[in-house]
Amino acid sequence: MKIELIQLQRHGDYRGGLIALEQNENVPFQVKRVYYLFDTAAGVRRGMHAHRNLQQLVIAIRGCCHFLLDDGQERHELCLDDPSQGLLVRPGMWREMYDFSKDCILLVLADQLYDERDYIRDYDEFLAMCRS
Ligand code: TYD
Repeated sequence: MKIELIQLQRHGDYRGGLIALEQNENVPFQVKRVYYLFDTAAGVRRGMHAHRNLQQLVIAIRGCCHFLLDDGQERHELCLDDPSQGLLVRPGMWREMYDFSKDCILLVLADQLYDERDYIRDYDEFLAMCRS
């Protein structure tokens, strides 16, 4: 499985950090939606779904969390803990997020508006989709 991590340029200086996210530049799609996960309760596992068409760029802009990606054949786990790294999550990838630090803010940019019909929340259904 190819893990697509995008290195985001830091423009920060002695005053502090600054990273800009630009549609079709360092974000490789048209951005239609932005959301963020924060105040995640201890021990919680989130995600546990795949998307049929949605693409996302995920950035831990504060703190850290673990991210599992599964393409139906391989699973890969990584730690997101760097605000200058964006994880690209393509359609058809099962994802789970866990071990959130108390201060974690996980920013997600998406190329579609929220649409429950785009979700695959059943793992067996996900595997069947991967095989077809
Ligand atoms: P959910 O998909 O369960 O979050 P995650 O997969 O990251 O654990 O979403 C939680 C709730 O928020 C659910 O009721 C749907 C709603 N929601 C929106 O209304 N808009 C959004 O863009 C997202 C991502 C979720």
